[in-house]
Amino acid sequence: MRDLAGKVAFITGGGSGVGLGQAKVFAREGMKVVIADVRADHLEEAMAYFRQTDAKVHPIQMDVMDRKAWEQAADEAERVFGPVQLLCNTAGVSIFGSMLDATYDDWDWVLGVNLGGVINGIRTFAPRMVAYGQGGHIVNTASMSAFLPQASAGLYVTSKFAVRGLSESLRIELEPHNIGVSILCPGAVRTNIHESVLARPKHLSNTGYYHYDPDIFARLKAALEPGLDPVVLAEKLLEGVRNNALYIIPYAEFRQPLEELHRRVIEVLPDPADDPDMMKRVEAMEQHFTSRWGH
Ligand SMILES: NC(=O)c1ccc[n+]([C@@H]2O[C@H](COP(=O)([O-])OP(=O)(O)OC[C@H]3O[C@@H](n4cnc5c(N)ncnc54)[C@H](O)[C@@H]3O)[C@@H](O)[C@H]2O)c1
Repeated sequence: MRDLAGKVAFITGGGSGVGLGQAKVFAREGMKVVIADVRADHLEEAMAYFRQTDAKVHPIQMDVMDRKAWEQAADEAERVFGPVQLLCNTAGVSIFGSMLDATYDDWDWVLGVNLGGVINGIRTFAPRMVAYGQGGHIVNTASMSAFLPQASAGLYVTSKFAVRGLSESLRIELEPHNIGVSILCPGAVRTNIHESVLARPKHLSNTGYYHYDPDIFARLKAALEPGLDPVVLAEKLLEGVRNNALYIIPYAEFRQPLEELHRRVIEVLPDPADDPDMMKRVEAMEQHFTSRWGH
């Protein structure tokens, strides 16, 4: 999507951090921007900033896990600004600790926001984008945790791997509709993600980890202090949206671990010369997908 001015963006988690950076950059490009966020204080702070500019920004308080709220938000966005052409599924949460200590509520919350929120966003907006027939773009914010495991972040890593798989498949499906899909995979970003648990809903509050903990908050915040400025990250994203990039990963430090990861995967594969049945399997798979699903 090269021409953004005048078009409508819908950004979840738009009240803080990565999402707020996206809202600032897209508004600066002349887009009309809906910022959706579960935290009223984040929306209020963000709107205090936008009110001092001539940006067209509309706040909606909603939980990305709430499917009814998604339909209402999409209707509201259309009423206020018109059809949405750019969906940024950015809202996300993190919590740290061993998977051995995770409760079902811990799993349901992290997967519900980080993966369920993205699914709900796509379920709501992708059919609308297709129906309007004007093309568009979807950005799903994953993380470097979509590629690399991390000790004490198993729930988060699980959710982000899933967002990558979802996004890469969706990109193939939406291409004929002129709708691009990008995956934003940040490393460290200077945001408020250290206080994610403050937005945790009561019905999923039974945790094996922590609720409010000033020491943990301070340590996480310090770790992200040298991270990218969210506006700088959003400028990279803007370029990626314009070029319909699949991955947006503006972090040099991950070149070596990703090379290592892919080398290890390739290494375990047999040589095609030693695998005489390979072509039979490839042809059967190709036939299966083209005959039944037409790709
Ligand atoms: N900060 C980093 O270092 C980093 C690194 C990689 C990926 N990310 C990803 O970036 C995205 C944004 O995180 P951030 O770092 O800007 O954190 P942040 O906490 O500053 O912003 C996230 C926003 O999402 C909102 N939110 C949380 N739960 C929600 C829900 N259920 N419904 C609606 N809104 C909800 C929060 O209120 C907050 O305003 C996340 O997907 C995160 O995983 C962040």
